[in-house]
Amino acid sequence: MQGLFITMEGPEGAGKTTILQKLAKELGERKFDVVLTREPGGIHISEQIRQVILDPNHTAMDSRTEALLYAAARRQHLIEKVVPALERGAIVLCDRFIDSSLAYQGYARGLGIEEIFTINQFAIQDLMPEKTFYFDIEPEVGLKRIEQNKGREINRLDLEKLDFHHRVREGYKTLLKMFPDRIVEIDASEPIETVFQHTKRLLEELIAKNDM
Ligand code: TYD
Repeated sequence: MQGLFITMEGPEGAGKTTILQKLAKELGERKFDVVLTREPGGIHISEQIRQVILDPNHTAMDSRTEALLYAAARRQHLIEKVVPALERGAIVLCDRFIDSSLAYQGYARGLGIEEIFTINQFAIQDLMPEKTFYFDIEPEVGLKRIEQNKGREINRLDLEKLDFHHRVREGYKTLLKMFPDRIVEIDASEPIETVFQHTKRLLEELIAKNDM
């Protein structure tokens, strides 16, 4: 396929969504064909699956069910949106992809990175991103950023979840060692503009390398 498939990963509050929007805007202004999308979601069927997964009333959801639903949403999104965009030569910037499942379900929920990779391989059939930017931040700092955005203090619930967020980060660190050529770590504790400029430089190198 001719296009360029890039995914962005990281814990909550790392700022990846803001940076993605800025990148897409800038590339769009430079007349690149850019598709900005996200997981779980991005298209109607996958947004429906997203609602089922993230509905706070669904406390009975088993973690394997959750993993399968993420994989199902991923499959549909890939086939309906990502593949056609890559086939026409677009730059696809995707907010979260397989590494979220590996870090959150595989590592943090304890289902096993290998197992989660296997069910996802059924969904993606080897269509891995060319590069993945991992925005690294300490969970305490990330959660604080989220709270500052909402204008309220960190509450008891947020603190209870902290342990989970630490495991997510450990999961990503494990993935960095497993896929050193594909995943690039970016220090997201820097001010957002610095992180943006850093990411933009890396992306421009990739675009040049791919003759786009
Ligand atoms: P979202 O509101 O999009 O979070 P963020 O802005 O941080 O990306 O919610 C997505 C949530 O789903 C987020 O907590 C990460 C989680 N997730 C998984 O656990 N596994 C996955 O495979 C994906 C794609 C997301």
